[in-house]
Amino acid sequence: MAAKKKKKMIHDFYKMKKNGEKVVWITSYDYPTGQFAEAADVDMILVGDSLGMCVYGYKGTVPVTMDQCIVHSEAVRRAAPNVFVIGDMPFLSYQVSSADAVVNAGRFLKDADCDAIKLEGGQRVVPQIRAILDAGIVVCGHIGLTPQSSGQLGGHKAQGRTVESAKVLVDDALALCEAGIQLLLLEAVPPEVGKYITELLPIPVYGIGAGIHTDGQLLIVSDLIGQFQAFTPKFVKKYANVAEVVTGAIRDYGNEVRSGAFPANEHCYKMIEGEFAKFEEMVKQYKKPE
Ligand code: KIV
Repeated sequence: MAAKKKKKMIHDFYKMKKNGEKVVWITSYDYPTGQFAEAADVDMILVGDSLGMCVYGYKGTVPVTMDQCIVHSEAVRRAAPNVFVIGDMPFLSYQVSSADAVVNAGRFLKDADCDAIKLEGGQRVVPQIRAILDAGIVVCGHIGLTPQSSGQLGGHKAQGRTVESAKVLVDDALALCEAGIQLLLLEAVPPEVGKYITELLPIPVYGIGAGIHTDGQLLIVSDLIGQFQAFTPKFVKKYANVAEVVTGAIRDYGNEVRSGAFPANEHCYKMIEGEFAKFEEMVKQYKKPE
């Protein structure tokens, strides 16, 4: 039997940065995928608010609620007890006040046993970040393309492609680091900007669409397994085509039901020996309804 995996904690991620070891990070939203992630030896899981699109079919992440995030985080935690799980704070769970931010961040720990929370934004969310940190919660920042404010960004667009935009990212990264975040995620930025920020900050900096130089990579599981079909961001590599496999399996099932090939004998329960003759006798008392 394989030895039980030791769960990595925040200090392990700092050691990995120091040793140049890359962190493998994926999203997960449910029990089966959480089990697959743990079995595949990922270092951390994000129960992302991307569940809005990947699980519920919303157009974006804005409609996602705290209750949805908690339910999905609970399922993932049950599935992956030996993986560092990060809960993702949905839109309006932290923007309104620091008090809301602490209560909602705390729910990820109290209700879903998460190890950390992630929230989007730079300098403008520093007060909320400080309040969450003061409550003793590990915080992962998230800058670059921040889907909850994609309206202000003019859509789901890469950030940091001009020097002005790159400067905003560097300033935001420094402000978050100064506020005390323990991890940072960069989304959809050029590799040069990813490299600069990763080398500048003493904390682990991970990327999703931020190039090869970050301390680790995140991908959305529904993208990497080829399940999510609405659109495919440039930074996605599909490692499987689950949509094709699952659609094919359901189509084969339908064809066999229609042709009478399913269910076959091996899918049927057998009556207990000797009971069939008695059953035939017993049903003689019934008449077909008119
Ligand atoms: O919700 C999510 O999965 C995310 C990633 C896109 C970074 O925040």
